[in-house]
Amino acid sequence: MPMLMADNVTKSFGGIKAVDTCSIAVERGSITGLIGPNGSGKTTLFNIVTGFYKADSGTITLEDMPIHGLKPNQIYHRGIGRTFQITRLFWKMTVLENMIVPVKQLGLRTLMSQGVKKHEEEKALELLELVGLIKYRDEEVRKLSFGQQKLIELAAVLMSDPAMILLDEPAGGVNPVMIEKMMELVEDLNQKGTTFLLVEHNMRLVMELCQHIIVLDHGQKIAEGEPSAIQNNSLVLEAYLGSTHNANARA
Ligand SMILES: Nc1ncnc2c1ncn2[C@@H]1O[C@H](COP(=O)(O)OP(=O)(O)OP(=O)(O)O)[C@@H](O)[C@H]1O
Ligand SMILES: [Mg+2]
Repeated sequence: MPMLMADNVTKSFGGIKAVDTCSIAVERGSITGLIGPNGSGKTTLFNIVTGFYKADSGTITLEDMPIHGLKPNQIYHRGIGRTFQITRLFWKMTVLENMIVPVKQLGLRTLMSQGVKKHEEEKALELLELVGLIKYRDEEVRKLSFGQQKLIELAAVLMSDPAMILLDEPAGGVNPVMIEKMMELVEDLNQKGTTFLLVEHNMRLVMELCQHIIVLDHGQKIAEGEPSAIQNNSLVLEAYLGSTHNANARA
């Protein structure tokens, strides 16, 4: 039984079917890739799984329990963390504050007028150490590079020890050195048991990290399989060539 399943999910915006009768499964312990040209519905599907959007139809189950209809913070409590295509950090707060604010926002504990609880700060510092950004703990987030901000967002997600993490373009706009760091971190977390669903246009990253890849086009699943099979799938090549997006150019 897969850890996460989306079954026949559809979501329209006006006349556009952003996600169209789409079914996906994410196996426990996997790094599963979700790829497809721009506008193919990847982020919309993430938003549905994490409760930010309500699907028009279809079901989402986590560990065989329905989670569609739950609010984002309820889904977060069930163990699904996510990062955003465009990071949602608090620009004028420090790196360390950004690690701790989501814990408060998501009601992961009742908080906080007397200041940060010791163990949370300790955990935040450990995670900043892990992502190699401890020396920026007291810097305002806006002063850091885009790649550093993406790592901070991932570190902040780790504060709640999610069993599954959805990453929306973790390497988008990020320099090659930081991409390597991000890849190492994802691999390391995966080896320690975290399951990932990964949206990314960087094909090298997807092909290296993922055991299983699902391809969307116009909201529909057009292919899935091992990286080698996906790379040679004519439907997938056509979808990318027919779009404005050139996957290889960004690899
Ligand atoms: N909130 C919204 N309101 C209206 N249309 C939307 C909304 N969100 C997404 N769409 C539309 O749904 C379709 C799928 O968009 P989505 O952002 O899910 O694509 P994507 O695969 O994540 O693309 P990208 O690779 O560019 O991030 C697009 O046509 C987009 O314009
Ligand atoms: Mg997107």
